[in-house]
Amino acid sequence: MIRNPFIITGEIPAPYFCDREEETKRLIRMLTSGENVCLMSPRRMGKSKLVQHCYAQEPFNSDYYCFYIDIYHTSSLKEFIYTFGRQVFNILKTKSQQMLVKFTQGLRSISAKFGFDSLTGLPTFNLSLGDVKNPEFTLEEIFTCLENADKPCIICFDEFQQIANYPEKNVEALLRSHIQHLRNTNFIFSGSSRHLLTEMFHSYAHPFFNSTSSLSLKAIDLEAYIKFVTYWFHEFSREIDPLLITQVYQLMEGNTFYIQKAFHELFENTEKNETCKIEMLPSVIVGMIEEESDSYRQFLSMIPARQKEVLFAIANEGRAEKVMSVQFIRKHSLTSTSSVQNALQKLMELDLVGLDDRAYYIPDILLKMYINKIAGK
Ligand SMILES: Nc1ncnc2c1ncn2[C@@H]1O[C@H](COP(=O)(O)OP(=O)(O)O)[C@@H](O)[C@H]1O
Ligand SMILES: [Mg+2]
Repeated sequence: MIRNPFIITGEIPAPYFCDREEETKRLIRMLTSGENVCLMSPRRMGKSKLVQHCYAQEPFNSDYYCFYIDIYHTSSLKEFIYTFGRQVFNILKTKSQQMLVKFTQGLRSISAKFGFDSLTGLPTFNLSLGDVKNPEFTLEEIFTCLENADKPCIICFDEFQQIANYPEKNVEALLRSHIQHLRNTNFIFSGSSRHLLTEMFHSYAHPFFNSTSSLSLKAIDLEAYIKFVTYWFHEFSREIDPLLITQVYQLMEGNTFYIQKAFHELFENTEKNETCKIEMLPSVIVGMIEEESDSYRQFLSMIPARQKEVLFAIANEGRAEKVMSVQFIRKHSLTSTSSVQNALQKLMELDLVGLDDRAYYIPDILLKMYINKIAGK
């Protein structure tokens, strides 16, 4: 049925999902034992897919109501509630008629927005953003409904750090005040911004301090990739050298999406009964950089010159140590120690630069390649 076993868009059915066995077990165990979890990793490491993978497993699939709410695009509490409410409605609609009715009756603050489709007889929810007049009240109604559900509930707020950008400053406290009283509902707060999430969950002054268990998602093991990639090439009557798999893994520094995308392309370029050739790799990488280049260009255009100079210097070095030193500043024609320091702080807040063992680096490996390409390096 499937043309390419290295799926890069949409849902990944279990057989095409690489490894994550330990993480899956661990996440399920944490949630079923009543913990709330903060799930963190750099972008595109596989958080969202892991959550959805867990939702498809037992006991979640049959014995729980599981909600996945991506709030990346939201910019206010009102939008948060709107997105949350809609998603709960959509899931209940597919899972339980009875719960759906309870939900529509429980949400008195927006009850006028529920109806029935006269053609299909299915319930409808014609809510627009402007209809959420009293978000705090609606939030309480949603949680009350889930608390009284006939099955336990799991809610994942993905890209949760987004709430730090809302104009309302009490959102963390508001959510926390509900969450600590809920008995039937557990949460996954996941996100890519280490900076913001660490502050929310591990800093004393924040309402969520010490309220969750942490799960940091690391790269999938090389061994697991070798098995996974070899197996699927073989199943589709193609071969691939484990050395090539290792090379891609190392080149992409373990980034799940980039690796998956590279094998998707390599598979695409390998005919049946043939062996994948290493010569294909450079053009595959060029194609991947090309695909991202529009968004990279767009966002580099918004970064102030001083920060960009530092970003380029780090890209050039790969791993940059002693960035405040005279040598580094001179080598890369930077302005001064203090301007490098300021720039680094901003770049790290944006998660464009990471710090590991006293070396600065660019976590998005393709961005690093892109910068070095336009810098002619
Ligand atoms: N276990 C996996 N097996 C195969 N591909 C995966 C796996 N996890 C993630 N991916 C790939 O990586 C991409 C990014 O994963 P995603 O969960 O969206 O990352 P994140 O939420 O951490 O940014 C997916 O679209 C998919 O192509
Ligand atoms: Mg995600």
